[in-house]
Amino acid sequence: MSSSPQPCGVLLFFLVVLCASFNSSATGIEANQSAWLSVDAAQASARKIPETMFGISFEEINHAGAGGLWAELVSNRGFEAGGESIPSNIYPWSILGDESLLIVSTDRSSCFERNKVALRMEVLCDNEGPIICPAEGVGIYNPGYWGMNIEQQKTYRVLMYVRSSESVNITVSFTGSNGARTLATSNIVSSDVSNWTMIEVLLEAAGSDPNSRLQLMTTRKGVIWFDQVSAMPLDTFKGHGFRQDLFQMLADLRPRFIRFPGGSYVEGEWLRNSFQWKVTVGPWEERPGHFNDVWQYWTDDGLGLFEFLQLAEDLGSLPIWVFNTGISLNDQIDTTRILPFVQEILDGIEFARGDPNSTWGYVRAAMGHPEPFNLRHVAIGNQDCGKTNYHGNYLKFYSAIKNAYPDINVISNCDASSTPLDHPADFYDFHVYGDANYVFASARNFDRTARLGPKAFVSEYAVTGKDAGNGNLLAALAQAGLLVGLERNSDAVEMASNAPLFVNVNDRRFNPDAIVFDSSKVYGTPSYWMQTFFKESNGAMLLNSTLGAKTSASLAASAILWKSSDDGRQYLRIKVVNFGSSTVNLKITIDNLDSNLIQAIGSTQTVLKSSSLMDENSFKEPHKVIPVQSPLKAAGKSMAVLLYPHTFTSFDLLTLLTMSQAI
Ligand code: AHR
Repeated sequence: MSSSPQPCGVLLFFLVVLCASFNSSATGIEANQSAWLSVDAAQASARKIPETMFGISFEEINHAGAGGLWAELVSNRGFEAGGESIPSNIYPWSILGDESLLIVSTDRSSCFERNKVALRMEVLCDNEGPIICPAEGVGIYNPGYWGMNIEQQKTYRVLMYVRSSESVNITVSFTGSNGARTLATSNIVSSDVSNWTMIEVLLEAAGSDPNSRLQLMTTRKGVIWFDQVSAMPLDTFKGHGFRQDLFQMLADLRPRFIRFPGGSYVEGEWLRNSFQWKVTVGPWEERPGHFNDVWQYWTDDGLGLFEFLQLAEDLGSLPIWVFNTGISLNDQIDTTRILPFVQEILDGIEFARGDPNSTWGYVRAAMGHPEPFNLRHVAIGNQDCGKTNYHGNYLKFYSAIKNAYPDINVISNCDASSTPLDHPADFYDFHVYGDANYVFASARNFDRTARLGPKAFVSEYAVTGKDAGNGNLLAALAQAGLLVGLERNSDAVEMASNAPLFVNVNDRRFNPDAIVFDSSKVYGTPSYWMQTFFKESNGAMLLNSTLGAKTSASLAASAILWKSSDDGRQYLRIKVVNFGSSTVNLKITIDNLDSNLIQAIGSTQTVLKSSSLMDENSFKEPHKVIPVQSPLKAAGKSMAVLLYPHTFTSFDLLTLLTMSQAI
């Protein structure tokens, strides 16, 4: 097999002469080079790629969830972001009217035990008497996450908790960013809200504005308390709360797993700010939210453990829950005191897949999902292997989980690619970050890994720094080379995912990312599009292939046999990355496949390229660097193809193989 160390295969797999020929910023075309690729289509030497080979890694970073995939429009909906103490900072809420007209403050009078802060609005003006309110009223507004995207004819559900000793008359509206243009409005008149009362309003927008805000206004004197104010579009994926366009970007990758909720987000700068699942489940209005201190923003935790599991299910992906091991970036729990943390995770697994009659399975069922979620993988920590207490804590988590749930696959943070682990694990986590040359060369990282121990989960990889820009072609090509290498080594690597997945352009905390968005727009970086070349690899057959070159060439190649779910036919896909600055004449030969079984009509080639290696997509040019497909008229057992510099090409040969002949 291609992935085990064979004299020729290894020598010829990547003839990468990085120091001699590759300059990451070079765009000049050197003299043509020649290379050859032989593909063995014989089933006997093929190997099945894991069904879960390529997936996604979701982290609450760059406002990926809060202000991103989670469609909640209000930011700081419970007024908790300023902390538990009062007076509290209510940012980004703002006040409409000066202090002669109203006084806005916070107190701890909420009816929700875990999030006591509420907003108190004392209105001094009235619609009659000495201080007359402005015609539009006074009140508060929330601009959401850099503006709310309100779209004409769409309906939004606004929910809020209100209390007042008098009757209230509140105008709830979506307006443009300066309040001048009203897009949707409704009046709440309620005579008895002396106890906290939930009020629901459906607003249908008469106009569109991606930079809208939610206003709560009144012209009536009195004191009104507000808490837990939410505004969601009705139009979310299956009504599950996921922003449609961002969900679609994920679905289009057909990810077979989703790792969540991070990343360093899992650890926190400090344990007190780490992701603690129990406060992220149950009714939304009872969730306190928490400060994501690693990436420096507040999250209301609308996207909690339940929603992550639901997201996985909606995507048809296996959920991979990364949990905190009692270790943050700055503090650690000693192993002698770790058991309560272990119990927390056992409870979390029960929440995900326990019987509805169990304590935590009951909570899940009450949230609308009596059937267990398909949680079969958990990762013990993120990048924690070197931390003092990791090994001790890991073993406690491992044995408790295996004891209670023997079928759960446990993922260690420690690298076993070159030396065996000193502790039991089903998989080990492996991250690849670096410049373009490093990432491209990392394709070979697993060539010599022993095939006996646990397999790798390459859960985060990316080209970073100058080479990556905000996500350019160079980064995508280097990552394509890496994935080709991982695919070839898929007997040592079980799963792989790029990170980070999302960035809201208004809060770029980590660069680059696969999917870029603002309140209303979205595009994929070249790296996103590169990943689409691998979505058919899950569960496909990896064919033995050997690549060679006469002179230096920065090439990487793999070959798979895959079945299209669209037309039910079998395709032989050859993927080749030309990472160098020379055009390459590539001679492809396919052995052990009758030439009559290859059909030129229906065969295609798809290329990811651009005029400059540093080209990026943008809101203005979202499709500047995307794959372009064309017919492959020369499809056959022997093909001479031209690989232009800095390109990633997929040759898809339509075959007449039947199921029994192929996969
Ligand atoms: O992917 C971004 C960050 O990089 C993750 O949070 C962390 O695991 C890694 O260091």
